[in-house]
Amino acid sequence: MPQSKRAKRVVIARLLLPAGRDPLEERFEVADGGLDSTRDEVLALVPGADGIVADPAVPIDAELLDAAGSQLRVVANYAVGFDNIDLDACRERDVTVTNTPDVLTNATAELAVALTVAAARNTSDAERRMRRGEWTGWDPADFLGIELSGATIGVVGMGRIGRRYAELMKGFGGEILYTSRTVKEDAEVKLGARKVEFDAMLAEADVISLHLPGSPENRHLIDADALAKMKDTAILVNTGRGVLVDSDALAEALEDGSIWAAGLDVYEGEPEVPERLLNAPRTVLLPHIGSATTRSRDEMARLVAANVTAVLDGEAPLTPVDLG
Ligand code: DGY
Repeated sequence: MPQSKRAKRVVIARLLLPAGRDPLEERFEVADGGLDSTRDEVLALVPGADGIVADPAVPIDAELLDAAGSQLRVVANYAVGFDNIDLDACRERDVTVTNTPDVLTNATAELAVALTVAAARNTSDAERRMRRGEWTGWDPADFLGIELSGATIGVVGMGRIGRRYAELMKGFGGEILYTSRTVKEDAEVKLGARKVEFDAMLAEADVISLHLPGSPENRHLIDADALAKMKDTAILVNTGRGVLVDSDALAEALEDGSIWAAGLDVYEGEPEVPERLLNAPRTVLLPHIGSATTRSRDEMARLVAANVTAVLDGEAPLTPVDLG
Protein backbone atom coordinates (compact mmCIF):
# COMPACT_ATOMS: atom_id res chain seq x y z
CA MET A 1 0.00 0.00 0.00
CA PRO A 2 1.42 3.44 -0.88
CA GLN A 3 2.25 5.42 2.21
CA SER A 4 0.14 8.60 2.53
CA LYS A 5 2.18 11.77 2.44
CA ARG A 6 2.58 13.74 5.68
CA ALA A 7 0.23 16.75 5.73
CA LYS A 8 2.27 19.94 5.64
CA ARG A 9 2.15 21.91 8.84
CA VAL A 10 1.77 25.67 9.12
CA VAL A 11 2.26 27.40 12.45
CA ILE A 12 0.72 30.82 12.94
CA ALA A 13 2.85 32.23 15.73
CA ARG A 14 0.11 34.59 16.93
CA LEU A 15 -3.00 35.36 14.87
CA LEU A 16 -3.93 35.43 11.18
CA LEU A 17 -7.34 36.81 10.17
CA PRO A 18 -9.76 34.29 8.58
CA ALA A 19 -9.12 35.74 5.09
CA GLY A 20 -5.71 34.07 5.32
CA ARG A 21 -6.26 31.36 7.88
CA ASP A 22 -9.22 29.74 6.05
CA PRO A 23 -7.39 29.07 2.78
CA LEU A 24 -4.41 27.73 4.73
CA GLU A 25 -6.67 25.36 6.67
CA GLU A 26 -8.09 24.00 3.41
CA ARG A 27 -4.65 22.85 2.38
CA PHE A 28 -2.55 22.33 5.48
CA GLU A 29 -2.55 21.32 9.10
CA VAL A 30 -2.68 24.66 10.89
CA ALA A 31 -1.85 25.49 14.51
CA ASP A 32 -1.74 28.89 16.12
CA GLY A 33 -0.32 30.33 19.27
CA GLY A 34 -2.92 33.08 19.73
CA LEU A 35 -2.36 36.77 20.27
CA ASP A 36 -0.90 36.37 23.74
CA SER A 37 1.50 33.56 22.91
CA THR A 38 4.81 33.88 24.67
CA ARG A 39 8.19 33.20 23.13
CA ASP A 40 8.32 29.83 24.94
CA GLU A 41 4.89 28.88 23.63
CA VAL A 42 5.91 29.71 20.07
CA LEU A 43 9.12 27.71 20.51
CA ALA A 44 7.03 24.76 21.68
CA LEU A 45 4.64 25.08 18.74
CA VAL A 46 7.06 25.30 15.80
CA PRO A 47 8.81 21.89 15.80
CA GLY A 48 7.89 20.12 12.55
CA ALA A 49 6.51 23.28 10.89
CA ASP A 50 6.89 23.58 7.12
CA GLY A 51 5.75 27.20 7.26
CA ILE A 52 5.61 29.83 9.97
CA VAL A 53 3.39 32.92 9.89
CA ALA A 54 5.07 35.68 11.88
CA ASP A 55 4.28 39.34 12.53
CA PRO A 56 6.16 42.39 13.84
CA ALA A 57 5.80 41.14 17.43
CA VAL A 58 7.37 37.73 16.70
CA PRO A 59 11.17 37.66 16.55
CA ILE A 60 12.33 35.03 14.08
CA ASP A 61 15.91 34.13 14.90
CA ALA A 62 18.29 31.17 14.65
CA GLU A 63 16.98 29.60 17.85
CA LEU A 64 13.40 29.60 16.57
CA LEU A 65 14.37 28.37 13.10
CA ASP A 66 16.35 25.52 14.65
CA ALA A 67 13.46 24.67 16.94
CA ALA A 68 11.24 24.40 13.85
CA GLY A 69 13.62 21.96 12.14
CA SER A 70 15.23 21.47 8.78
CA GLN A 71 11.90 20.81 6.96
CA LEU A 72 10.96 24.50 7.45
CA ARG A 73 10.57 26.13 4.02
CA VAL A 74 8.97 29.53 4.57
CA VAL A 75 8.51 32.32 7.07
CA ALA A 76 5.66 34.55 5.92
CA ASN A 77 5.55 37.88 7.71
CA TYR A 78 2.12 39.40 8.24
CA ALA A 79 3.59 42.87 7.64
CA VAL A 80 5.58 44.73 5.04
CA GLY A 81 8.40 45.45 7.51
CA PHE A 82 10.58 42.49 8.40
CA ASP A 83 12.97 43.84 11.03
CA ASN A 84 11.70 41.09 13.35
CA ILE A 85 13.34 38.48 11.13
CA ASP A 86 17.00 37.48 11.09
CA LEU A 87 17.43 37.29 7.31
CA ASP A 88 20.94 35.84 7.50
CA ALA A 89 19.72 32.99 9.68
CA CYS A 90 16.92 32.29 7.16
CA ARG A 91 19.30 32.40 4.20
CA GLU A 92 21.74 30.04 5.93
CA ARG A 93 18.91 27.54 6.47
CA ASP A 94 17.46 27.99 2.98
CA VAL A 95 14.20 29.34 4.37
CA THR A 96 12.23 31.69 2.11
CA VAL A 97 10.94 34.90 3.70
CA THR A 98 7.91 36.80 2.41
CA ASN A 99 6.20 40.05 3.41
CA THR A 100 3.04 41.98 2.47
CA PRO A 101 3.92 45.04 0.37
CA ASP A 102 1.45 47.17 -1.63
CA VAL A 103 -1.76 46.00 0.02
CA LEU A 104 -1.17 48.25 3.05
CA THR A 105 0.25 51.27 1.24
CA ASN A 106 -2.94 53.33 1.21
CA ALA A 107 -3.92 52.48 4.76
CA THR A 108 -0.51 53.38 6.19
CA ALA A 109 -0.05 56.54 4.12
CA GLU A 110 -3.54 57.70 5.09
CA LEU A 111 -2.75 57.18 8.77
CA ALA A 112 0.44 59.20 8.36
CA VAL A 113 -1.67 62.04 6.91
CA ALA A 114 -4.08 61.73 9.83
CA LEU A 115 -1.20 61.94 12.32
CA THR A 116 0.24 64.94 10.49
CA VAL A 117 -3.01 66.89 10.67
CA ALA A 118 -3.75 65.78 14.24
CA ALA A 119 -0.27 66.79 15.42
CA ALA A 120 -0.43 70.13 13.60
CA ARG A 121 -3.70 70.95 15.34
CA ASN A 122 -2.78 69.33 18.66
CA THR A 123 -5.98 67.33 18.72
CA SER A 124 -4.77 64.94 21.43
CA ASP A 125 -4.30 67.59 24.08
CA ALA A 126 -7.57 69.28 23.03
CA GLU A 127 -9.53 66.03 23.23
CA ARG A 128 -7.99 65.02 26.54
CA ARG A 129 -8.89 68.36 28.09
CA MET A 130 -12.41 68.12 26.77
CA ARG A 131 -12.88 64.58 28.08
CA ARG A 132 -11.63 65.74 31.50
CA GLY A 133 -14.42 68.34 31.49
CA GLU A 134 -11.97 71.23 31.25
CA TRP A 135 -13.49 72.88 28.17
CA THR A 136 -15.06 76.12 29.34
CA GLY A 137 -16.19 77.41 25.95
CA TRP A 138 -14.88 78.96 22.77
CA ASP A 139 -11.64 80.74 23.43
CA PRO A 140 -9.84 82.69 20.72
CA ALA A 141 -6.46 82.08 22.31
CA ASP A 142 -6.75 78.42 23.22
CA PHE A 143 -6.01 75.26 21.25
CA LEU A 144 -4.02 77.12 18.61
CA GLY A 145 -2.33 74.94 16.05
CA ILE A 146 -0.44 75.18 12.80
CA GLU A 147 -1.92 75.24 9.30
CA LEU A 148 -0.57 72.82 6.76
CA SER A 149 -1.64 74.69 3.63
CA GLY A 150 1.54 75.58 1.80
CA ALA A 151 3.72 73.70 4.30
CA THR A 152 6.94 72.12 3.08
CA ILE A 153 6.66 68.37 3.54
CA GLY A 154 9.76 66.24 4.10
CA VAL A 155 9.42 62.58 3.24
CA VAL A 156 12.23 60.41 4.60
CA GLY A 157 12.23 57.28 2.44
CA MET A 158 10.35 57.54 -0.85
CA GLY A 159 9.24 53.90 -1.12
CA ARG A 160 5.64 52.92 -1.79
CA ILE A 161 4.21 54.34 1.44
CA GLY A 162 6.36 57.48 1.39
CA ARG A 163 5.36 58.10 -2.24
CA ARG A 164 1.64 57.74 -1.46
CA TYR A 165 1.97 59.99 1.59
CA ALA A 166 3.70 62.61 -0.56
CA GLU A 167 0.91 62.39 -3.12
CA LEU A 168 -1.78 62.86 -0.48
CA MET A 169 0.09 65.69 1.26
CA LYS A 170 0.57 67.45 -2.07
CA GLY A 171 -3.10 68.39 -1.68
CA PHE A 172 -2.01 70.96 0.92
CA GLY A 173 -0.19 72.77 -1.86
CA GLY A 174 3.32 72.99 -0.41
CA GLU A 175 6.61 71.68 -1.73
CA ILE A 176 7.58 68.02 -1.28
CA LEU A 177 11.18 67.29 -0.29
CA TYR A 178 12.43 63.72 -0.09
CA THR A 179 15.47 61.70 0.84
CA SER A 180 16.21 58.49 -0.97
CA ARG A 181 19.17 56.50 -2.23
CA THR A 182 17.91 56.99 -5.80
CA VAL A 183 16.20 59.77 -7.70
CA LYS A 184 12.44 59.17 -7.87
CA GLU A 185 11.69 60.55 -11.29
CA ASP A 186 8.01 59.79 -11.16
CA ALA A 187 7.60 61.77 -7.90
CA GLU A 188 9.73 64.60 -9.29
CA VAL A 189 7.66 64.87 -12.45
CA LYS A 190 4.20 64.28 -11.00
CA LEU A 191 4.56 65.94 -7.59
CA GLY A 192 7.40 68.36 -8.25
CA ALA A 193 9.23 66.58 -5.42
CA ARG A 194 12.83 67.61 -4.79
CA LYS A 195 15.52 65.19 -3.56
CA VAL A 196 17.58 66.75 -0.77
CA GLU A 197 20.22 65.78 1.75
CA PHE A 198 18.85 64.74 5.13
CA ASP A 199 20.30 67.78 6.93
CA ALA A 200 18.82 70.15 4.37
CA MET A 201 15.43 68.55 4.92
CA LEU A 202 15.74 68.92 8.68
CA ALA A 203 16.37 72.63 8.25
CA GLU A 204 13.75 73.32 5.56
CA ALA A 205 10.76 71.08 6.18
CA ASP A 206 7.68 72.00 8.21
CA VAL A 207 6.73 68.33 8.47
CA ILE A 208 9.11 65.39 8.54
CA SER A 209 7.50 62.00 7.99
CA LEU A 210 9.51 58.81 8.38
CA HIS A 211 8.97 55.94 5.94
CA LEU A 212 12.07 53.82 6.41
CA PRO A 213 12.56 50.25 7.55
CA GLY A 214 13.75 49.61 11.08
CA SER A 215 17.22 48.41 10.14
CA PRO A 216 20.17 48.81 12.54
CA GLU A 217 21.73 51.52 10.34
CA ASN A 218 18.55 53.62 10.65
CA ARG A 219 18.43 53.34 14.44
CA HIS A 220 17.92 56.77 16.04
CA LEU A 221 18.13 58.60 12.74
CA ILE A 222 16.11 61.21 14.58
CA ASP A 223 18.26 61.91 17.61
CA ALA A 224 19.00 65.02 19.67
CA ASP A 225 21.24 66.37 16.90
CA ALA A 226 18.64 65.91 14.19
CA LEU A 227 15.91 67.40 16.37
CA ALA A 228 18.09 70.44 17.07
CA LYS A 229 18.36 71.06 13.33
CA MET A 230 14.58 71.06 12.84
CA LYS A 231 12.45 74.21 12.90
CA ASP A 232 10.83 74.99 16.24
CA THR A 233 7.52 74.86 14.35
CA ALA A 234 8.28 71.43 12.83
CA ILE A 235 6.11 68.35 13.11
CA LEU A 236 7.62 64.85 13.25
CA VAL A 237 5.54 61.91 12.06
CA ASN A 238 6.59 58.28 12.42
CA THR A 239 4.60 55.41 10.93
CA GLY A 240 7.77 53.48 9.96
CA ARG A 241 9.43 51.80 12.92
CA GLY A 242 10.04 52.94 16.48
CA VAL A 243 13.80 52.46 16.32
CA LEU A 244 14.06 55.38 13.88
CA VAL A 245 13.52 57.84 16.73
CA ASP A 246 15.36 58.38 20.00
CA SER A 247 12.24 58.82 22.09
CA ASP A 248 14.00 60.44 25.05
CA ALA A 249 15.47 63.08 22.78
CA LEU A 250 12.09 63.57 21.12
CA ALA A 251 10.29 63.95 24.45
CA GLU A 252 12.86 66.54 25.46
CA ALA A 253 12.43 68.47 22.20
CA LEU A 254 8.65 68.50 22.69
CA GLU A 255 8.95 69.51 26.33
CA ASP A 256 11.28 72.42 25.65
CA GLY A 257 9.45 73.47 22.48
CA SER A 258 12.38 72.98 20.16
CA ILE A 259 9.95 71.25 17.75
CA TRP A 260 6.20 71.88 17.61
CA ALA A 261 4.57 68.46 17.65
CA ALA A 262 4.83 64.75 16.95
CA GLY A 263 2.50 62.11 15.59
CA LEU A 264 3.66 58.58 16.33
CA ASP A 265 2.29 55.14 15.51
CA VAL A 266 5.36 53.03 16.33
CA TYR A 267 7.74 52.78 19.30
CA GLU A 268 11.08 51.25 20.10
CA GLY A 269 10.34 48.32 22.40
CA GLU A 270 6.58 48.44 21.74
CA PRO A 271 4.07 47.74 23.17
CA GLU A 272 5.92 49.61 25.94
CA VAL A 273 5.67 53.36 25.38
CA PRO A 274 8.07 55.56 27.37
CA GLU A 275 6.27 57.43 30.15
CA ARG A 276 7.95 60.63 29.03
CA LEU A 277 6.37 60.36 25.58
CA LEU A 278 2.97 59.59 27.06
CA ASN A 279 3.19 62.88 28.93
CA ALA A 280 4.86 64.98 26.25
CA PRO A 281 2.89 67.99 25.00
CA ARG A 282 1.46 68.23 21.45
CA THR A 283 2.00 64.55 20.87
CA VAL A 284 -0.47 62.27 19.14
CA LEU A 285 0.15 58.62 19.97
CA LEU A 286 -1.43 55.64 18.25
CA PRO A 287 -0.86 51.92 18.92
CA HIS A 288 0.79 50.71 15.68
CA ILE A 289 -2.37 50.84 13.57
CA GLY A 290 -0.88 52.01 10.26
CA SER A 291 -2.20 49.06 8.27
CA ALA A 292 -5.26 48.54 10.45
CA THR A 293 -8.13 48.83 8.02
CA THR A 294 -10.35 45.83 7.33
CA ARG A 295 -9.44 45.93 3.66
CA SER A 296 -5.73 46.12 4.25
CA ARG A 297 -5.52 43.51 7.01
CA ASP A 298 -7.65 41.08 4.96
CA GLU A 299 -5.51 41.63 1.87
CA MET A 300 -2.38 41.16 3.97
CA ALA A 301 -3.79 37.90 5.35
CA ARG A 302 -4.65 36.64 1.85
CA LEU A 303 -1.17 37.50 0.65
CA VAL A 304 0.40 35.66 3.60
CA ALA A 305 -1.64 32.56 2.73
CA ALA A 306 -0.81 32.81 -0.98
CA ASN A 307 2.89 33.10 -0.19
CA VAL A 308 2.91 30.11 2.18
CA THR A 309 0.91 28.01 -0.27
CA ALA A 310 3.14 28.89 -3.21
CA VAL A 311 6.33 27.96 -1.37
CA LEU A 312 4.92 24.74 0.09
CA ASP A 313 3.69 23.80 -3.41
CA GLY A 314 7.21 24.31 -4.72
CA GLU A 315 6.34 27.50 -6.58
CA ALA A 316 7.76 31.01 -6.42
CA PRO A 317 6.26 33.18 -3.66
CA LEU A 318 4.35 36.28 -4.76
CA THR A 319 6.24 38.75 -2.58
CA PRO A 320 9.58 37.36 -1.43
CA VAL A 321 12.01 39.34 0.70
CA ASP A 322 15.44 39.60 -0.87
CA LEU A 323 17.79 37.60 1.37
CA GLY A 324 20.86 38.98 -0.39
C1 DGY B 1 4.01 46.58 8.60
O1 DGY B 1 3.35 45.97 7.77
O2 DGY B 1 5.23 46.57 8.64
C2 DGY B 1 3.21 47.33 9.61
O3 DGY B 1 3.99 48.04 10.46
C3 DGY B 1 2.31 46.37 10.35
O4 DGY B 1 1.10 47.02 10.53
